[in-house]
Amino acid sequence: MSGMRDDIETILLTEEQLRQRTAELGAAISADFAGREPLFVGVLKGCFVFMADLMRCVTIPCSVEFMAVSSYANQTTTTGAVKINKDLNRDIEGRDIILVEDILDSGVTLHYLTEYLGVRKPASITIVTLLDKPSRRRAPVYAAYAGFEVPDAFVVGYGLDYAEKYRNLPFIGVLKPEIYR
Ligand code: IMP
Ligand code: MG
Repeated sequence: MSGMRDDIETILLTEEQLRQRTAELGAAISADFAGREPLFVGVLKGCFVFMADLMRCVTIPCSVEFMAVSSYANQTTTTGAVKINKDLNRDIEGRDIILVEDILDSGVTLHYLTEYLGVRKPASITIVTLLDKPSRRRAPVYAAYAGFEVPDAFVVGYGLDYAEKYRNLPFIGVLKPEIYR
């Protein structure tokens, strides 16, 4: 039986790199939002590992909520359609929202979410993404906090999946193309 590790072509980001960068992002957000008590909104499912680590590096009072969206049906490129599978169940009017994503790829998901939540009149919406693939952008999205720029390759691990697998890898790696070809 072959292990998950055999499906990885190269390790892009090690556990140590992820730990250190997440701590930097947490410290920056804590300084920038001091006195504002932001509401972190995680975009499930990909955010769950990064967000758990990020929140423990945030030192200011805050609260946490989740939304679940899907835009990919076991494919490696976006369909362009975003479906809300779980919405927020509290009022966000006047709140400083920090959207937490695993990866900003085409930007379709975060562009849609920003518009969708903007209607509810939050004080602000700020994006934090662990990974950024700027070469693939199709929708105008600005991430105030981005952990790492990654090349145009399909990556998995640390919350990111391919067909719901590999989320539990502790590092981020490039998936061997023959796995999804
Ligand atoms: P966007 O709407 O194209 O920006 O896509 C964002 C979503 O696509 C992310 O939240 C991921 O779930 C998924 N995604 C995009 N690129 C990758 C990748 O390289 N690996 C795993 N998931 C990805
Ligand atoms: Mg995702």
